Amino acid sequence: MRTIMPTDGFRESMLAGLTRRPRAVPCKYLYDAEGSALFERITELEEYYPTRTEIGLLTDQGGEIAQVVGAGARVVEFGAGSMRKTRLLLAALEAPAAYVPIDVAREPLLLAARRIAQVHPAMAVAPMVADFNHPLVLPPDADGDGPVLGFFPGSTIGNMMPGDARDFLRRVAKLVGPGGRLLVGVDLTKDPHVLETAYDDSQGVTTAFIRNLLARANRELEADFDIRAFDHRAWWNAREGRVEIHLVASRRQAVSVAGRLFAFRRGDTLHVEDCYKYTVEQFRWLARLGGFVPEHVWIDSAQLFSLHMLRRG
Ligand code: TRP
Repeated sequence: MRTIMPTDGFRESMLAGLTRRPRAVPCKYLYDAEGSALFERITELEEYYPTRTEIGLLTDQGGEIAQVVGAGARVVEFGAGSMRKTRLLLAALEAPAAYVPIDVAREPLLLAARRIAQVHPAMAVAPMVADFNHPLVLPPDADGDGPVLGFFPGSTIGNMMPGDARDFLRRVAKLVGPGGRLLVGVDLTKDPHVLETAYDDSQGVTTAFIRNLLARANRELEADFDIRAFDHRAWWNAREGRVEIHLVASRRQAVSVAGRLFAFRRGDTLHVEDCYKYTVEQFRWLARLGGFVPEHVWIDSAQLFSLHMLRRG
C-alpha cells in the first residue's frame, strides 16, 4: 500500500475566508481527524437519513450495480471516510482489481484502507491523501485494463456549487476514461423541515462538527476562538436549492488567528457549507453538462435519496 501526500492550505484558506465578505471557508477543512470522527457520528443520527438510505440502496441494488459495471473493475473513491459504503460496493462487484480511495484526512484514510486490503487480499489498494477538487491521475498501482468505476457517495457532490460540480464531473470523466463510469449518491429535494433537521440534530452532534472548524483553528493556527460564542445555523435556501450552514457570532468579539486580529459583531456569519439538493432530472442535466450519460438511477421507496450510474459520454 503506497500513499500519495498532500498540501493542506488550512492557514491561508482560513485567513482569506475571514477577510472576505461574506465570510466563508471551504468545507473540506471540517474533516481533520476530529471532524471525521464527529462526521461518523452524524451518519448514525436518526435525523440524518442520507447515510442509512444510501446504504439501503447499495445493499438492495448491489447485484444490478455489479452487472452494469462488469468484472475486474478499478474503483476510485472521492472522499473515502469510514468506507462503510465501499465495503458494500466491493463485496457486490465481481473480482474488483483495484481500489483507490482519495481523502484529505490522512490517518483515518490509511487506517480504513488497511482494513479493506485485509478483506480483499487479491485487490490492489492505493490510498491517496489528496483534495479531489484538484486534477487527478490514477496511481501506477491501479494500472490495468479493467473498467474504471468512480464512486462518490454521501451526496458530497451537493457540497459543491453546481458549476464546480460540473467541472468536477468533467475531471472525473477524464479520469475514468473511455468505457468508465461514475456511481454517485445525490440527496433529493424534499420538505425543508426534513432537510433542516438533518443538518441540525437534537443531540448537537452537527453543532460540534461545525464548531470543530474553529476548534481546529485553535489547535493548528494559534487561534483563540471561543467556540461557544458561535451558534450553528442551518436553513433551506429555496432560491438556490440548498441547505446553508453557518456559524453565527452570538456576541461582539475579536479573535486572533495566526497573529492577525478579526472583529465580529453580534450576528456576523461565517459560511461553512452548502448542501445542494437535486431532483432526478436536475441531476441528470448536470451529469450531461459534466460529460456523462445517465445510465441508471436507483431511489428508495420514500424518495429520499438517489444513486445515479453515469457512463462517460
Ligand atoms: N455530504 C454531506 C451532506 O451534504 C455532508 C454533511 C453531512 C454535512 N452533515 C453535515 C456538512 C453537517 C455540514 C454539516 O449531507
